[in-house]
Amino acid sequence: MDKVLFQAAAEAAVRSYSPYSKFRVGAALLCGDGSIVVGTNVENRSFGLTICAERSAIVAAISSGKRDFKELAIATPDSTYPVSPCGACRQVLSEFFSPDTFIEFGANAEETVRCTIAELLPHDALHDLKD
Ligand code: THU
Repeated sequence: MDKVLFQAAAEAAVRSYSPYSKFRVGAALLCGDGSIVVGTNVENRSFGLTICAERSAIVAAISSGKRDFKELAIATPDSTYPVSPCGACRQVLSEFFSPDTFIEFGANAEETVRCTIAELLPHDALHDLKD
């Protein structure tokens, strides 16, 4: 994956609003038109209202008319190992990504894990519901 995409995720993580967990996350979507849309985690004092970085990025992209996603990078600079998307985010990613889309996640650009959406969310029986 292009280092530029991971770098965009790392820059988004710096803008995280995470005073409760102090765990910053940045996500960067490479869109079909070549543009990059980023998101970061936004926490709330009512903890359940927290929005993950991945979903922030998806919502921002859809809101600006972009639905075609080629890749996703996730940066978690406060972890000591690559942190994969939570279960809720895996479900939301599967709504907009084809199963063979690659994502890459890591605490830093040097040590990342790369896998497909299908590997993150196997047996995704509802994937073709709207087709
Ligand atoms: N978080 C994300 O933004 N994405 C994930 O995939 C894992 C968790 C956020 C939510 C919360 O603000 C913090 O990381 C700790 O869970």
